[in-house]
Amino acid sequence: MKFLRHVLQLLPASLVFAAYTPSSPEHTCVIPALNDGRDDAPAIREAFDKCGKNGKVIFQKDTTYSIQTVLQLHDLKNVQVDMLGTLEYSTDVRYWILHGSYYYFQNISIAMEFSGEDITIDGHGSGTIDGQGQVWYDLALGVGGLYGRPIPFCLRNVKNAVARNFKILQSGKWNFVMLESQNILVDNIYLSSTSDDDQANPGNLGNTDGFDTINSDNITIQNSWANVGDDCVSFKPGSTNMHVKNLTCYNSAGIAIGSLGQYEGVRDVVENITAEDVTLIGSRNGAYIKTYVGKRTYWPPQGGGGGNGYVRNVVFKNFHIENITSSPVLIQQCTHWGGYNVPACADTPATGYFSNISWSNFTGYLNEKVGTKSISWACSPLAQCEGFSFKDINVKSVDGADGTYSCSNVDGYDATCQKV
Ligand SMILES: *[C@@H]1O[C@H](CO)[C@@H](O)[C@H](O)[C@H]1NC(C)=O
Ligand SMILES: *[C@@H]1O[C@H](CO)[C@@H](O)[C@H](O)[C@H]1NC(C)=O
Ligand SMILES: *[C@@H]1O[C@H](CO)[C@@H](O)[C@H](O)[C@H]1NC(C)=O
Ligand SMILES: *[C@@H]1O[C@H](CO)[C@@H](O)[C@H](O)[C@H]1NC(C)=O
Ligand SMILES: *[C@@H]1O[C@H](CO)[C@@H](O)[C@H](O)[C@H]1NC(C)=O
Ligand SMILES: *[C@@H]1O[C@H](CO)[C@@H](O)[C@H](O)[C@H]1NC(C)=O
Ligand SMILES: *[C@@H]1O[C@H](CO)[C@@H](O)[C@H](O)[C@H]1NC(C)=O
Repeated sequence: MKFLRHVLQLLPASLVFAAYTPSSPEHTCVIPALNDGRDDAPAIREAFDKCGKNGKVIFQKDTTYSIQTVLQLHDLKNVQVDMLGTLEYSTDVRYWILHGSYYYFQNISIAMEFSGEDITIDGHGSGTIDGQGQVWYDLALGVGGLYGRPIPFCLRNVKNAVARNFKILQSGKWNFVMLESQNILVDNIYLSSTSDDDQANPGNLGNTDGFDTINSDNITIQNSWANVGDDCVSFKPGSTNMHVKNLTCYNSAGIAIGSLGQYEGVRDVVENITAEDVTLIGSRNGAYIKTYVGKRTYWPPQGGGGGNGYVRNVVFKNFHIENITSSPVLIQQCTHWGGYNVPACADTPATGYFSNISWSNFTGYLNEKVGTKSISWACSPLAQCEGFSFKDINVKSVDGADGTYSCSNVDGYDATCQKV
C-alpha cells in the first residue's frame, strides 16, 4: 500500500486518471503514453472502448503517442475526442502493408479509422498526426499506387461528425479520407507532406491527396491549408452534396472530381459539388474532372477504365491560382497511370455524362515555362458534356496574355471554346 501510494505520487495526475475506470461523472478517458518506444495503440483502443460512447477521450497535450498497430475505432457514439498531443506512426512498412484496414476502392489501406455517430475530433490547434511518410515516399518512387501505403486519418461509416483544428504531417498516402460517411464538417485542418527525394521539386509527390471523399454525402471542408503534392481535394466516386470553402493549397494537383470510371462496368456518380474561395499556389491543375479510358487497361490501383456514370451540378468559383502548369479550367478524360502500351485516348474513349458544370471568377497567372491552356475541355467523343459554362477566367500568362482555349466535344462550344 505504501509502495502504491509512492508510485501514485510519482505519476502525473493525468496518468493516474488514466488507470481508467471511466471516471464518472464525466466519463472521460485520458490516454497515457508509454514514452519508451512501445506501442501506445492498445491504450488508445482501451480508452475508446471505455469512453467511446457518451464520453470524452483525451490525447494529452505535449505528449507523443507511438502508433505501431492499426486503429479501428468503431461503434463510437456521441463522443468528444480532444486530440491535443501528437500521434506518430511507426515506420515498419512490412507491418502496415500487411495489416492496414482494407477498403475495396483502389485497395486502399487505412492506419486509423473512426466509425460511428456524433463524433467530434478537435485538435484545439495543437493536435498533430505524423505519418512519417518519407519511408513511404522512398518506397513508392515511381509506383505511386504501391499497395499498403497507410492512410493516417479516416472517417469511415460515420454519421454526423466534426473534425477540426489539427494537423496531418508527412502522410504515407492520401491524408484525410472520408468513406461511406455523411454530415461531416471539416474545419481548420492543416496538411503538409513533402518529400526530400526530389530536391528540385520537393512538393511533387504521388498519391498524397489532401482531402478525399468516397461514397459519402453532405460534407463541408473549410478554412483549411494544405501542401500536398497531389490533388488538394478529390471528390471520388459516390460523392454528393459537397462544399469546399476557403481553402489554400500549395504544390497540389488542384481541386479534382475523380478519377471516375476506373472500375469496368461500374457506374460512378458525383452530384452537387461547390468549391469556392480557393487559392492554389504552384498548382498542376485548377478545378478539374478526370476520368479513366473507356476500356479497361491493366488493373487498379494503377490501371483501370471502362466504367461509366455521371457528374452533374458542379460550381467552381472564386479561385485564385498562381503559377499553374496545366489548365485552371480542365476536363481530363483518359486518365491512365498503369503499364505500358496504353491505348490512345481516341481509340478507347471514356463514356459518361457531364452536365451543368460552371467555372467562374478565376484570377492568377500561368507558369511562365509551360505553354498552358487557360481552358481545356477535352471531352471524349463518347461522353456527353452539356450545360458547361465559364465566366471571368483571368488566369493569364505572366505578361498578361491569355492562355489558349481548347474545347472538344462540348455541347454548344467550338474548338476554341466560343459559343456556337
Ligand atoms: C486490388 O484490387 C483488384 C481488383 O480491383 C484485385 O484484382 C487485386 O488483387 C487487388 N490487389 C491487392 C494487392 O489487393
Ligand atoms: C449536412 O451536414 C451538416 C453538418 O456538417 C448538418 O448540420 C446538416 O444538417 C446536414 N444536412 C442534411 C441535409 O442532412
Ligand atoms: C480562411 O482559412 C484560414 C485558415 O486556413 C483562416 O485563417 C481565415 O481566417 C479563413 N478566412 C475566412 C474568411 O474565414
Ligand atoms: C442535388 O441537389 C438537388 C437540389 O438541391 C437535390 O434535389 C438533389 O436531391 C441533390 N442530389 C443528391 C444526390 O443528393
Ligand atoms: C445546376 O447546378 C446548380 C448548382 O448545383 C443548381 O443550383 C442548379 O439547380 C442546377 N441546374 C439544373 C438545371 O439542374
Ligand atoms: C473573385 O474571387 C476572389 C477570390 O479569388 C474574391 O476575392 C472576389 O471577391 C471574387 N469576386 C466576385 C465578384 O465574387
Ligand atoms: C513558378 O514555378 C516554377 C517552377 O515550376 C519556379 O521556377 C518559378 O520561380 C515560379 N514562378 C513564380 C513567379 O512563382
